[in-house]
Amino acid sequence: MAKRKVIHEGKAKIIYEGLEPGTLIQYFKDDATAFNAQKKDVIAGKGVLNNRISSHLMTRLEEIGIPTHFIRSLNMREQLVREVEIIPIEVVIRNVAAGSLCKRLGLKEGMILPQPLIEFYYKNDALGDPMIGEHHIITFGWADPLEMEEIITMSYRINDFLNGLFSGIGLKLVDFKLEFGRLWGEYGELYLMLADEISPDNCRLWDVNNNNEKMDKDRFRQDLGGLVEAYQQVAERLGLVPKGGIIQGGSINEQLAAGLEEIENELARERRLRSLNKVKPQKPVKS
Ligand SMILES: Nc1ncnc2c1ncn2[C@@H]1O[C@H](COP(=O)(O)OP(=O)(O)O)[C@@H](O)[C@H]1O
Ligand SMILES: [Mg+2]
Repeated sequence: MAKRKVIHEGKAKIIYEGLEPGTLIQYFKDDATAFNAQKKDVIAGKGVLNNRISSHLMTRLEEIGIPTHFIRSLNMREQLVREVEIIPIEVVIRNVAAGSLCKRLGLKEGMILPQPLIEFYYKNDALGDPMIGEHHIITFGWADPLEMEEIITMSYRINDFLNGLFSGIGLKLVDFKLEFGRLWGEYGELYLMLADEISPDNCRLWDVNNNNEKMDKDRFRQDLGGLVEAYQQVAERLGLVPKGGIIQGGSINEQLAAGLEEIENELARERRLRSLNKVKPQKPVKS
């Protein structure tokens, strides 16, 4: 493989410079981290599964008109995406009480929320991604009111769509995290799009017909074991890996994984970008 420039190495992915200007390559690692990287492990095959699951979900979302950064898959661990300016906010949508929401408010895990709940966190590892309100976002210039309106509308739409998609394969979408990015057009117009990844690393998925068995990163957080088997089950139900899977006896069947059909998103090139028609704002206040 030719030497490529690493733009950023995160907890779950390495970002390389892309094949052409304005693009990046997302490489999905097998590293698993939780509790702001205080807990770490390497789980063979996780990266391959997340790359496939995320490529597939982004493609499905693009089909219903949600602009995403996904362009196409490159190989079993890598995908080509558009380079965007990441908005430093994690958007969390919850349908069922779990995780930090239960801890914070003393709720019983599994309580169905009367309506989807949207939360925002400031994306800052050093501060432990603190929860914030919309006013913090506006005050510190991380996003403006127009962008927030668009982000919230898109997030609820993504939630509705993914709820249906997962319930069709016997999984309950408990909650998930999204990241959005900006792309500046030639005339200073702004396009917002979904970035990063959507995978069992950042979604809670429960197996409805199997006693709400956890099929996501909580298996790692809570030492339940069987993480990669659960991710593989999600991929299998989505039709992304053959029956029996690509991870066998704790290691990946490289040949089988390399032979999987590539996920292509033809829509990415000609999609309807959402222009918010404005000029580039001042640099946000740094903390
Ligand atoms: N299209 C994109 N353009 C630029 N940066 C991106 C894009 N998609 C995701 N990113 C950023 O790349 C990083 C992905 O690596 P990851 O391992 O998830 O990092 P982290 O440890 O911050 O979660 C994240 O910081 C994410 O915000
Ligand atoms: Mg991440």
